[in-house]
Amino acid sequence: MNVRLARAEDVAGMQQANLVNLPENYHIRLWIYHIITWPQLSFVAEDSKGRIIGYVLAKIDEESEDTSDIHGHINSISVMRSYRRLGLAKKLMQLSQEAMTSIHKAKYVSLHVRATNKAAIGLYKDTLGFQIADTEKGYYADGEDAYVMRLNLKNES
Ligand code: ACO
Repeated sequence: MNVRLARAEDVAGMQQANLVNLPENYHIRLWIYHIITWPQLSFVAEDSKGRIIGYVLAKIDEESEDTSDIHGHINSISVMRSYRRLGLAKKLMQLSQEAMTSIHKAKYVSLHVRATNKAAIGLYKDTLGFQIADTEKGYYADGEDAYVMRLNLKNES
């Protein structure tokens, strides 16, 4: 297995993994937009034949003029079932977080996760140190609540 920066030609494989692993799916344009706009923040894991077995799709939210509010956001992450519990999601998240800090000087990273998604909450909270910042009632299309999770990032200066 190899983990590397995502490229535009990976988008079909990333979208396919997303369709298999999650009910939240996005138009191909959104995948391409992220990779073109924030080319250092999204990563893929590939098997020995170069097939995409996991990805993280991330962006920078910088709508506010307040530079203290520049932050990264994880749009989507998943790993194919037979490759889980090998540390791939941890690696994908860490690489994206490092790039958010070193390239964009992001102060923190945020994400939404289904309140019942124990595996993902375990990854974010226990392994990476995220905390639950808020709950958004009925955030998902089927009415499930989302936890808004957040992790402060360490900047050098
Ligand atoms: N139960 C409890 N804790 C878990 C589980 C699980 N099933 N899976 C991972 N973790 C936690 C553990 O703390 C684990 O450390 P450990 O193995 O040393 O105990 C830690 O996360 C790191 O695990 P990884 O091996 O890096 O995680 P993996 O590569 O298996 O991917 C993921 C985790 C992405 C949640 C995977 O289960 C998956 O693809 N699930 C379906 C898609 C999904 O739910 N994605 C997240 C949606 S939220 C969003 O996209 C922003």
